[in-house]
Amino acid sequence: MKHVLVTGGAGYIGSHACKALKQSGYIPVTFDNLNTGWKEAVKFGPFEHGDLLNKSDIDRVFQKYNPIAVMHFAALSQVGESMQKPGLYWENNVMGSLNLIQSAVDHGCMNFVFSSTCATYGDQDNVVLDENSAQHPINAYGASKRAVENILSNYQAAFGLNHVIFRYFNVAGADPDAEVGEFHQPETHLIPLILDAVDGKRDALTIFGTDYDTPDGTCIRDYVHVCDLVDAHVLGLKWLLDGKASRVFNLGTGDGFSVREVVDHAKHVTNRPVPMVEGDRRPGDCTKLVSGSNRALTELGWSADRSNLKQMITDAWRWHQNGAYNE
Ligand code: UFG
Repeated sequence: MKHVLVTGGAGYIGSHACKALKQSGYIPVTFDNLNTGWKEAVKFGPFEHGDLLNKSDIDRVFQKYNPIAVMHFAALSQVGESMQKPGLYWENNVMGSLNLIQSAVDHGCMNFVFSSTCATYGDQDNVVLDENSAQHPINAYGASKRAVENILSNYQAAFGLNHVIFRYFNVAGADPDAEVGEFHQPETHLIPLILDAVDGKRDALTIFGTDYDTPDGTCIRDYVHVCDLVDAHVLGLKWLLDGKASRVFNLGTGDGFSVREVVDHAKHVTNRPVPMVEGDRRPGDCTKLVSGSNRALTELGWSADRSNLKQMITDAWRWHQNGAYNE
């Protein structure tokens, strides 16, 4: 049985990964504390309730399933919150990951796929962000993910823990079948907030900062479809199972869109106005984060076919209208 331990499998990206793993012939075992995840999102394999801060919870799951690999999604992931509660981010993301990594090694599970982030690069004007770019995170979230990258590198050297690190750009969209989707409580991400404003679930979208050094004054991000993103994870798993060396991959398209451009696309897709107001900058936000690498395409054979804004917002809108977990 090819079990894969999926931490955070009840969350947005983890639940899509479980679907992709099942479709590829693996059995995804979701490990989640349900603090930010949803039991209803666990549809594609067994569920184990537990907390990464309790190593005995993790040890129990390794013993029960003897997984061939780990995909580690579980993390706190809000840039703004991480600036207000850095200790929470270091504890949850770094100590929790350390417990998981140690448990994997203790149980001889030496294939590890890690969700990292372009937030580890920080704000670097006019620098093409590829996997060799310097990492200077400007928020606690990015710093915590950078720390886990270092732990993995140390565990590779000491114990031979093979790993693939994916540095995500901005993940968006939803499963086209609307079986799973993006649902955070409270929501902080741009596209679901725009859709909430479109259908009146909130009064308006607040644009965080209109005085950035960008053509229209708003931040620029590189959006990647969640289904393309999890496809890369399945390819990363295969990479490790084929015995290839540990590797870092950016997951982005190389195309940047400003907040205002995303809003414009949402108007077209929904054919409705987007109520919005202009507000202050959000602490911790980088001006521009766009991938400058095609390593995932050339080496993993990844394709990001669905990662255009129209498709991402169309799929997010379908999910928004038809699917949601119990609030
Ligand atoms: N934004 C607004 N108003 C909002 C929410 C967001 O203007 O109400 C802006 C942000 O300032 C930013 C852009 O929309 O410029 C995207 O913001 P998100 O909160 O959707 O995403 P972030 O870029 O802050 O962070 C996300 C994930 C991180 C990941 C990062 C990589 O939350 O986990 O993408 O850029 F690391």
